[in-house]
Formats: sequence, C-alpha cells, structure tokens
Amino acid sequence: MVRVELKNIIKAWENFRLEIGYLKAKDGEFLTLLGPSGCGKTTTLRMIAGFEKPDKGEILFNGNIVNELPPYERNIGIVFQDYALFPHLTVFDNIAFGLEIKRLPRDEIERKVRWALELVGLEELENRYPEQLSGGQQQRVALARALVIEPEVLLLDEPLSNLDAKIRERLRSEIKRIQRELGITTIYVTHDQEEAMAISDRIAVMNVGHVEQVGKPLELYYRPKTEFVARFLGLSNILKLKAKDGKACIGGLCFDVERDGKVRVFFRPESVYVKPGKMAEIVDYELLPGRIRLRLKIGDELILAERFLDELPFSVEDLPERVDVEVRSFSILK
Ligand SMILES: Nc1ncnc2c1ncn2[C@@H]1O[C@H](COP(=O)(O)OP(=O)(O)OP(=O)(O)O)[C@@H](O)[C@H]1O
Ligand SMILES: [Mg+2]
Repeated sequence: MVRVELKNIIKAWENFRLEIGYLKAKDGEFLTLLGPSGCGKTTTLRMIAGFEKPDKGEILFNGNIVNELPPYERNIGIVFQDYALFPHLTVFDNIAFGLEIKRLPRDEIERKVRWALELVGLEELENRYPEQLSGGQQQRVALARALVIEPEVLLLDEPLSNLDAKIRERLRSEIKRIQRELGITTIYVTHDQEEAMAISDRIAVMNVGHVEQVGKPLELYYRPKTEFVARFLGLSNILKLKAKDGKACIGGLCFDVERDGKVRVFFRPESVYVKPGKMAEIVDYELLPGRIRLRLKIGDELILAERFLDELPFSVEDLPERVDVEVRSFSILK
C-alpha cells in the first residue's frame, strides 16, 4: 500500500493561493480534507490525482515524487460528487470499463467486476443502465468502478453530497467498511464535519488556502488549536481571560492554564457539568431530543452547557435559578 505526502506545495490562481507545508496520508489511512466551500479541498485532491500541477513543491507516493506522472500512471481510483457514469453502458460495463482499457482477458474482467459488484452490494443490478438506478446505487457503481482497478490510493471528492441524509449515512459506513477491508489509503473530501468525524482516521481541517490543523477526529473536536477549527467542528465556548499564577478564572470557575497573561480558553458545551449551586445563572434553555442545552451567565460571559436529560441532577420542570459549573475538558487556543 501507499503513503501519500505533500511537501511545500504552492498552487496559485489570480484570486486564490493554496499553500500546504506538509501533509501526509499514512499507509492504509483514511484521511479527510474538511473545510468550507472554496478553501482548496478539490484543488488539493486534483493535485494528488495528477489533474492539476502544483506551482511549487512535491507530491510523493511512498517517497517517490509523482509530480510528472499523469493520473493514469498513479494507480489511483477516483470518485466524484456527480458519479460521472457512462449513461449508455450497463452497470457491469461501467465497472468493466477501466479493465477493458487495460486489455485484460475477458474471464479476468468478469471475475474482477463480480468481486467489485459484491463489494458494493450491487450483484442484482449488473444489467441495468445508470438512469434505472437511484442516486445511492449510482454512487455505488462509481465506487465499484474506482475500486475494480485495485488502486493503491482511493480519492473521493464529496461523493455523498448529492444523496439524501439516510442513504448518505448508510453509504458512508459502507465506504468505511470497504476501506478497512481493503486497507487502501484513502483521501476523502467533504465540507460536512459530522461525516468527517464519522468516517476518518484523521482529518485535515482546511481554511482558505491552508491547513489549519491535522489530527484524529476527537483530538480536533476537543482540543482544537485555533478558533476556526473549534467553531467549524461544532458548538463552542470560547472565553477570553487573563491568567495569573497559572490560573484563568471567571465567576469562580478556574482553569489551570499553566501560563500568565491573555488566554483564550475553549471547551464544548457537553464538557460543562452542572449541579445546584451559586456560580452561574441559568439564563434560558432549549430542549433537544434526550438533551438539554442551557445558556449560563458566569461573571459577565455567556456559556453553553449541554447535558443528557437522564444525567441532570435536577428535573427540567424544576430547574434551579443558579448552578455550580465544572468544566471537565478544555484547551487553550492560539
Ligand atoms: N482552474 C481554476 N482557475 C482559477 N481558479 C480556480 C481554478 N480551480 C479552482 N479555483 C479557485 O480555487 C479556489 C479553491 O477551489 P476548490 O475547488 O479547491 O475549493 P473547494 O474547497 O473544493 O470548494 P467546494 O467545497 O465548493 O468544492 C476557489 O476560489 C476557486 O475559485
Ligand atoms: Mg470541491
């Protein structure tokens, strides 16, 4: 299998500049490029695929520079958002296409296509044409077509964004299962943070033209280094505080920040535990399925706390006016 590395990459257009100092997808890893529209995800993927050349820097597969290799010599499988199936070919022939170009013997093509059909659960539909398939089925064909050539690297650009929520969830866990089964190095592009969290070994969060932070999903979620990463991945509390003697405090709530001066303390609403007490005022609340989101005023700041209803130390009908607050996990932003 293959390790993919990007080193000192620069790609610039008139109104956009992408710079990536270093980014790696390890052998067999599922790496996701996550970021808002226009941040450079597709451009990055297209450079890895070889459809786009970096102005500067190197792209390496297993330590070998592939900058000059055209896409078809990089041994990659690609899946796009819009499936891009051949409308006049059956499911079977769509999947067989890449193998026929390689002029493999007929029986080998048959065997490989059947393997790919089974992998994505489409055995029954091999004689249909794309227009006779649902969006989810079409995307499975696209996935089978990418996998049938047994690529060393699988590249997916927002493959699920044209599908409805239910199918999207089903297909994403299937993509993950197949990726694990085959152990194939995979680089996946999405702007959907939930999808990224669910599917990835590691995530590279991108912001206009650069990578903000790379890490495992929970590491990024609970210990973001920047405000951008914190806010992009979910609801955030960010308190601007002044630390003294290694502690930053507000309204009786203290954080061991191990430094002095200005700090920005970050924590998720679900890291905030409450019990009846004096520290914070419950300003208002919102009920969510099985959960409650409390807006608390502590000092002169507002923070969010989110708890499962069955672990609240009081009933919703009988909310106290004030609570004590404990934050069990926090990080310091740059
Ligand atoms: N061939 C091109 N010529 C000029 N500018 C381009 C070209 N391709 C992309 N860009 C610009 O580069 C920037 C990044 O585009 P890119 O497609 O990589 O973003 P993205 O993160 O994939 O966004 P989205 O989530 O909308 O797909 C955009 O501002 C885009 O307009
Ligand atoms: Mg894109």
